[in-house]
Amino acid sequence: MPHICSHKHVVHLENPLRRMLHQPERIYAPWVRPGMRILDIGCGGGFAAIPMARITGPKGVVFAADLQPEMLNRMLSRARREGVADLIFPHLCQADRIGTEGRFDFINAFWMLHEVPDIPTHLEEIRSLIRPNGRFFLSEPCFHVTAKAFAKEHEAVLAKGFRELARPRILMGRARVYAPA
Ligand SMILES: C[S@@+](CC[C@H](N)C(=O)[O-])C[C@H]1O[C@@H](n2cnc3c(N)ncnc32)[C@H](O)[C@@H]1O
Repeated sequence: MPHICSHKHVVHLENPLRRMLHQPERIYAPWVRPGMRILDIGCGGGFAAIPMARITGPKGVVFAADLQPEMLNRMLSRARREGVADLIFPHLCQADRIGTEGRFDFINAFWMLHEVPDIPTHLEEIRSLIRPNGRFFLSEPCFHVTAKAFAKEHEAVLAKGFRELARPRILMGRARVYAPA
């Protein structure tokens, strides 16, 4: 089984320096629009879910999914402090099943796919959850996922019926944006 980033490390994921360096608002601005229905898988402490909720606004919704209830609690506490808790729907998933209902305009998997035990099955579920004009954003950390391992993930995404749209630059990370093929 792959190693799961424990909720005890959430301080490293949510520290202000990371937010300054990664600037999630800048990362997601080209892809996220007001009113969108969004799924953030492996949301952790809310690194992406919270800024995305600010962009989607009251006409949209962000489903923030994680398999650790403690992560969801941390994410919700921060969302309350930042006044966006009403725009975020926390969802507890299983390691082998996301399990959300309906389809999404934008699905985000930021620095989490390498923690999933069965990547092809996970990608198949993501494919089934995306709207025809939807976008899938994948990013992995360079220090955990080698270029070769990321290329393998990329091939697995294409094999599940996606096409590549963009290669956003992420500090210390690798990233691709996909659309359904
Ligand atoms: C390294 S953290 C990244 C968190 C967040 N995306 C960020 O960039 O700050 C990975 C997160 O993915 C979650 N995770 C791992 N495997 C998962 C799975 N199969 N389904 C949902 N969440 C998962 C972990 O619980 C953890 O919160």
